[in-house]
Amino acid sequence: MVFLLLAGWHLSVTVIEQISTSYREHSRCQQYREERRVENPYWPFAPVRSLSLQQVPSEAARVGSAPCAFHEELERFSGVRQSYRFFHLSAGVSVLSMTTRFWSVWAAIVALLGLLSATSARNWRNSGTGAIALEEAWTVPELVNLITATPPPGQPFDEFKASFLDVHGRRLDLMNQNNIDFMVLSCATPCIQGISDPATAAEMAVNVNNQLAAAISNNTARFGGFASLAMHDAIEAAQELRRAVNDLGFQGALLNDYQQSGPDNTTLLFYDQPEYDVFWQAVTELDVPIYFHPRPNIAQIETLMYAHAPFIEGPSEEYAVTLANHILGLCTNGVFDRFPTLKIIVGHLGERLPSDLFRIDEQLQRLKSKGLVMQRNVSSYWRTNLYETTSGNFATALLRFHIDEIGLDRIMYSVDYPFVPIPEGEAWVLSLSQVLSPKDLNSLKRGVAIKLLHLDDE
Ligand SMILES: *[C@@H]1O[C@H](CO)[C@@H](O)[C@H](O)[C@H]1NC(C)=O
Ligand SMILES: *[C@@H]1O[C@H](CO)[C@@H](O)[C@H](O)[C@H]1NC(C)=O
Ligand SMILES: *[C@@H]1O[C@H](CO)[C@@H](O)[C@H](O)[C@H]1NC(C)=O
Repeated sequence: MVFLLLAGWHLSVTVIEQISTSYREHSRCQQYREERRVENPYWPFAPVRSLSLQQVPSEAARVGSAPCAFHEELERFSGVRQSYRFFHLSAGVSVLSMTTRFWSVWAAIVALLGLLSATSARNWRNSGTGAIALEEAWTVPELVNLITATPPPGQPFDEFKASFLDVHGRRLDLMNQNNIDFMVLSCATPCIQGISDPATAAEMAVNVNNQLAAAISNNTARFGGFASLAMHDAIEAAQELRRAVNDLGFQGALLNDYQQSGPDNTTLLFYDQPEYDVFWQAVTELDVPIYFHPRPNIAQIETLMYAHAPFIEGPSEEYAVTLANHILGLCTNGVFDRFPTLKIIVGHLGERLPSDLFRIDEQLQRLKSKGLVMQRNVSSYWRTNLYETTSGNFATALLRFHIDEIGLDRIMYSVDYPFVPIPEGEAWVLSLSQVLSPKDLNSLKRGVAIKLLHLDDE
């Protein structure tokens, strides 16, 4: 009797789920318009939960149909994970059912439906050869005035600034002209990491994530998202990451180095401390990568360290040094020992770390006797936990050296648009065909990223 109820319930739910998609989308849009709330698309496979969309993406609010597009995308994104649930549930019911002969027909039907629903992988524009780019900046109107970087030569500042707000215009044209299939967008530095007040930071993170989800909602075949997170509180950060991945369909998160904090901004929070273990636990459970991106230092550090040579502030020197410290903090404080499956991405060819592993390993080895908790050497974490991208660092000889040091399967292409022009990246990629085999070039441009971002997972 129990089996019959279980199988019958599951079968009906599965069938209803499959055939009533359009009806549910319709009612969800209606509900959204009435209440500006959205129900958890996973129901009944996860606890019922309402997501507050009070900070509705301004863009979505303006365009009447956008909220529905947003929901369609929620649905589409969640399809993959939902399918897993179908599959596991179906498999479970099948096994139970098969314990008695009588239920074998049910078992076959249920298993078949489960398999059918489990074959819906993410729908992205996969040309078979186009690149995937994953350190690509975007921002919200509220934060666009924080953009102070120097544009690429010849580009007027206003146009440069506007390109951070653009998704479907010039950016997409450049992707089309330069053979980029898929781009993961993230909030331009320092974004949330530059907000010292915890409540303001948490609210802005939700706002930025909702706006990004809305901005890419009508073209998720070409655009993905890395979440922005307030890192003042590790538990809240983990919650927002879960929401961004499970409900908004993001591919992971991007943190702009340390979180500034405190009334005068001088408390710097580094995620290599034990209180962030709860965050890393969530990250590994979700199995998404976290991108570590540089940020400008707080004013006090800029003065002490860079007033003597102000031109080396920013990307030429300061960014790499500060971020490399944070990555080495993760290594030496044992974060990768505690979370062996944690995946961290470091841009700009690894912020110089893979160029310097000989000395880093040798010097740290000497400190094992002085209480260094790290169980392995930094080189080895580059083979198991750390990835690098080529963003804004198109140095062919260095790339080849890094392939020797950390392996081709740890290196992904990226541009760093709009700080770096997309055609410059494409020209470099084309030139790489002289030094890399087609298979290796394919791995660099897309192969590693497809796996890491779960783009083709079923
Ligand atoms: C998505 O919406 C934007 C306007 O926000 C529009 O310019 C673009 O063409 C749309 N893209 C698709 C694929 O519908
Ligand atoms: C703290 O940083 C914010 C921006 O990040 C800035 O507006 C504010 O002036 C800073 N406060 C101090 C005391 O430096
Ligand atoms: C780093 O550790 C790996 C094993 O984890 C070892 O094979 C390698 O020789 C070590 N490298 C250095 C420079 O100590």
